[in-house]
Amino acid sequence: MKETVLSGMRSTGKLHLGNYFGAAVNYVKMQHEYDCYFFIADYHSLTTHPNPTELKHHVREMLATYLAVGLDPEVCTLYVQSDIPEIPELYLLLNMIAYKGELEKTASFKDKVRKAGQTINAGLLTYPVLMAADIIIHRAHKVPVGKDQEQHLEMTRNYVNRFNRLYEKEVFPEPVAFNFGDQLVKVPGLDGGGKMGKSEGEGNAVFLLDDEKINSKKIMRAKTDSGPTEPNSEKPVEIQNLFDIMQLVSTEETITTFNNAYNDCSIRYGDLKKQLAADVEQFIAPIRDKAKSIYDNETYLKEVMQHGAEKARINARITMDMVRDAIGINY
Ligand code: ADP
Ligand code: TRP
Repeated sequence: MKETVLSGMRSTGKLHLGNYFGAAVNYVKMQHEYDCYFFIADYHSLTTHPNPTELKHHVREMLATYLAVGLDPEVCTLYVQSDIPEIPELYLLLNMIAYKGELEKTASFKDKVRKAGQTINAGLLTYPVLMAADIIIHRAHKVPVGKDQEQHLEMTRNYVNRFNRLYEKEVFPEPVAFNFGDQLVKVPGLDGGGKMGKSEGEGNAVFLLDDEKINSKKIMRAKTDSGPTEPNSEKPVEIQNLFDIMQLVSTEETITTFNNAYNDCSIRYGDLKKQLAADVEQFIAPIRDKAKSIYDNETYLKEVMQHGAEKARINARITMDMVRDAIGINY
């Protein structure tokens, strides 16, 4: 039997090139090798973004983007979290074995408290419990997560072990973090710093659904220096970053041309950025067009959501039967 892989995407933003190369591309491949559950975590986004119009727009936009990049609802199970009532049911039950002190010590929660620009609601405190429910409702084995989510996964394993021990039954397997393939891609941002990310500030990330003008402008403004002064010198980080992005979207020939120009000090960063912007656009345009046409097809999106929810609920009900049985809610 195939192992179960599960991944949740928060519905608070659009996908950037980092999400695409670091996650989406792998999801598309994984769906053929594992029993995959991919869902949009709309409940989670309510902890910080309770705006009905935006919520609806973001959920549809995320779904359309994932379909556009190649997730196949006939191959994987693609659904929206709030369509599965078994998730909040399991979340409630898990809250009985989640300790308040442990939740208060979670790094992501402490970070929210520190920033405290917003009200600290109980949803934020129990964010990891809901995430655990997402994962174990499908008795998932593998969860592709970035570093920032590892602690949440660790807490999921705590709940799994606590539950299995308390009720003396192996209801849930212990889920582990998962990297698909051996090469971890890190897409750098445009600000000369670390990786591309949606919370790294305006201008750092190139979004798949933004139009050419916006993306080109960001790329033309990317950080550079005054240029190499010695032949064959090492590239500073911000320049290497642009070359790294080029590696993902440009042809070998283009990369060689600019590399040679860098090495003989004849490079003009304006030309490099112009070329990069053109290549990014060529790469993104078909994805954006497809996602936009799917977004506009409300009937199709609803069908996908309904189909995904039906498939996900079949498995979720099996879990809840086991859970209710173990707990004794089976009068
Ligand atoms: P963001 O940085 O936009 O907040 P998330 O942290 O929500 O993105 O990450 C969603 C997924 O995309 C994760 O699997 C993460 O590893 C991947 N990812 C995000 N940014 C990058 C990047 N710059 N390079 C590679 N993968 C990335
Ligand atoms: N917390 C995850 C994030 O911020 C999103 C998420 C919610 C998730 N439930 C999940 C990820 C379950 C993996 C498994 O990116």
